[in-house]
Amino acid sequence: MTPITTTVAAATVTTLFLLLTTTVTATTTTLSTDISALKAIKSSINPTTIPSYSCLASWNFTSDPCSNPHITHFLCGLSCSNNRVTQLTFDRPGYSGTLSPLVSQLTQLITLDLSDNKLSGPIPTSLFSLPNLITLDLRNNLFSGTIPPVISNLKSIETLDISHNSISGSLPDTSNSLTLTRLDLSFNKFTGPIPKVAKNLMELAFKSNFLSGGVLKTSFSELTRLEVVEVSDNSLTGTIPGWFFLLPALQQVNLANNGFTGIEILKPIESDLVAVDVGYNKLVGYLSGNFTAYPMLSSLSLRYNKLQGPIPEEYTRTTTLRRLFLDGNYLNGMPPKEFFSGKSSVTGSLGDNCLKSCPTSSQLCLKSQKSSSICRQAYGGKVRQKL
Ligand SMILES: *[C@@H]1O[C@H](CO)[C@@H](O)[C@H](O)[C@H]1NC(C)=O
Ligand SMILES: *[C@@H]1O[C@H](CO)[C@@H](O)[C@H](O)[C@H]1NC(C)=O
Repeated sequence: MTPITTTVAAATVTTLFLLLTTTVTATTTTLSTDISALKAIKSSINPTTIPSYSCLASWNFTSDPCSNPHITHFLCGLSCSNNRVTQLTFDRPGYSGTLSPLVSQLTQLITLDLSDNKLSGPIPTSLFSLPNLITLDLRNNLFSGTIPPVISNLKSIETLDISHNSISGSLPDTSNSLTLTRLDLSFNKFTGPIPKVAKNLMELAFKSNFLSGGVLKTSFSELTRLEVVEVSDNSLTGTIPGWFFLLPALQQVNLANNGFTGIEILKPIESDLVAVDVGYNKLVGYLSGNFTAYPMLSSLSLRYNKLQGPIPEEYTRTTTLRRLFLDGNYLNGMPPKEFFSGKSSVTGSLGDNCLKSCPTSSQLCLKSQKSSSICRQAYGGKVRQKL
């Protein structure tokens, strides 16, 4: 072939190609597999739960989902880019039904938000392989079953929220994800230990599940961006290790209502820790004065544990502490009188302990102290154990 014929041939191919794409665009814009996915998604929703004013009611497949303007059809719930669906956000009229596994055909999906409806059945496993998904929000539905043990195919995921459902089995291992920053699996039925989590995570919430085991280095040690940890209302046990509170970005920690028996508090060099709640556990031993070495700490709760001994005098020197809940322990001695001077802005409770002379004029002491027989028993019991 001479160069000239090559050019002519190429030009013809180009023209043909242009013609072809123009024709296709004119009749339909959305990729057919995306349309079939949308149809399957709509038809797996119970039609009696699709009110006429809702987004899904406007999904009228007589016209193309991605074509503009969306005036008479596909009024809401859907965004496209080029000829692909990139965002699916249900409104919240209380759709019930299931989530069609064909959702995984929407391979350009960036956002999937089906929160606050009544969707039930399993979450399709294929959903966890969508490579472009950044936000997956299924919170507050009735999904059950398990989720994949390892989430590594969600290559772009940043926010994963499946809280307030009925998912059981183990928590997923997210440690291969470099993109995940927010993980909320709270209020489900997960069991077993806390696995290794994504190392760029900033917020982790596993509140109100049935998790067991301890706070382990293998799960947390590399989490240099972790700011919020919410794992209250589980069955975690053991000693909360000192290094945990030294995680460099940590700000809020809620470990309340578990079965922890010990807590180790090391003095930080620097720390942004603002709030710590380890109330309603089984902590034994003395109250560490080292909490007061955390320069930003403004809220501390260790209420309803089994702590003994005096309130360390360091607590009188902290200027950041605003809320202090130490009630429901066996703390003894005199409470620091600085708490009761007009200058102190500390609120909370020191009640239900074994403290002497807690002035009932202070709201910190409104709840009365334990009876002396209970206190004698608590301290006597400890001495006997040692012998
Ligand atoms: C779809 O929408 C068009 C335009 O509003 C309307 O004429 C048509 O009846 C609708 N079709 C169905 C099946 O609802
Ligand atoms: C306080 O912190 C220091 C140093 O970080 C540690 O050696 C010590 O055991 C801690 N003491 C208490 C009572 O927690």
